[in-house]
Amino acid sequence: MTQTNPGSTTVSLEAGTHWICSCGQSQNFPYCDGGHKGTLFQPLALELDSPKLVEISQ
Ligand code: FES
Repeated sequence: MTQTNPGSTTVSLEAGTHWICSCGQSQNFPYCDGGHKGTLFQPLALELDSPKLVEISQ
């Protein structure tokens, strides 16, 4: 059983690099969709060496 915190999203991610939104403007949260352009925010690179369930807080 996976418990999640309110305001968070749990996603199943494959191995590789995933670009996570840090600005809160993405229409495809938790992934960066370029909505940060014009702000001081940059997406966070999440690098996984194997598939994982990841909880990401908003
Ligand atoms: S859309 Fe939020 S960091 Fe890119």
